[in-house]
Amino acid sequence: MKYAFFGAAALALCATNAHAGTATRAPFGALADGSKVEAVTLTNGAGVSALIMTLGATLQSLIVPDKAGHKDDVVLGYDTAQEYLSHPDYFGASVGRYANRIAKGKFTLDGKSYTLATNDGPNSLHGGLKGFDKRMWKIDSVTSGPEAKAVFSYVSADGEEGFPGELKVTVTYSLNEQNELKLEYRATTSKPTVLNLTNHSYFNLSGNDARDVMGNMVTLHAERFTPVDATLIPTGERRGVAGTVLDFRNSHQVGDRIRDAREQQLRYGRGYDHNFIVDGAAGTLRPAAVVSEPVSGRTLELSTTAPGVQFYTGNFLDGTFFGKGQRAYRQGDAICLEPGVFPDSPNHPDFPTSRLNPGQNYVNTIVYRFSAR
Ligand code: GLA
Repeated sequence: MKYAFFGAAALALCATNAHAGTATRAPFGALADGSKVEAVTLTNGAGVSALIMTLGATLQSLIVPDKAGHKDDVVLGYDTAQEYLSHPDYFGASVGRYANRIAKGKFTLDGKSYTLATNDGPNSLHGGLKGFDKRMWKIDSVTSGPEAKAVFSYVSADGEEGFPGELKVTVTYSLNEQNELKLEYRATTSKPTVLNLTNHSYFNLSGNDARDVMGNMVTLHAERFTPVDATLIPTGERRGVAGTVLDFRNSHQVGDRIRDAREQQLRYGRGYDHNFIVDGAAGTLRPAAVVSEPVSGRTLELSTTAPGVQFYTGNFLDGTFFGKGQRAYRQGDAICLEPGVFPDSPNHPDFPTSRLNPGQNYVNTIVYRFSAR
């Protein structure tokens, strides 16, 4: 009996492996100017599949089974590549050079001042007017196997969007049989520079945005966050979450406290739009957040090497964005978890550094692990 049991298990394993891990490359339409967009689809044996397009090295769709095995897309986005340029909101995009805000679009490095475009009130946001989300990336390699993967690259010219140094960037997307989608951002520079690369996926684990995210349960492994001013620039303080509506150290429903206008931070953010300082040592891969959607049973566990994670509840989605399948995206329709250095780090010498020197290798690793029960 024992032998038979192990035999069956081994057979099951073989069967799983037979379907496991494909990476396929295909056209993904064209932009209005005629430039062609390509995509890679990574699929595992458990029915998870991720489509990443070359425009913005963007995670355009992410299919994940629910507790009944029903597959749905759990990220917001558009059906066509051109819409990502026509109505940009960083859906699923690789964001750079500097994800999040730089105050007044200004910073100094080694005594020299740099000026960036201000595209978010008085501040610079997500790399400026034409950040990495709006650039065409190259597909360097596509590999099938138990860890199906694709490498995308982009070379950002010295001075692009006002940032110094030629920056060579890659992002490797890989999907394994444990339903882990891993993103590894790497960069090198020709001159000292500042950077913050991340992925800006908008998760709605209900699938096809059946419900908003207010009923999602969220855990953030963060004792502290960086409070912001009215323009969402950190004041420099690192404040304990204990006793505040930003305390997600134990699992908490998103919508429970989001309307508590006594908390000035929620007024500034119109909800949650804050950088949480991930517990543990930056540079090591460690848990940062857990999101669960009770009806579908889907859970997302986020790990990262980054020092912080921006927890954003889609507060600027205002019903004027029509996404995949012509769905209007409204406030609170998604959760973004953007792992990176803290916002405005170039202007805060005591924040974890956003500086990269020639000869150094920048790495930001992000793992999204999915399960359902
Ligand atoms: C980040 C910011 C938000 C918003 C979105 C994009 O999450 O913190 O304030 O700008 O990106 O709309």
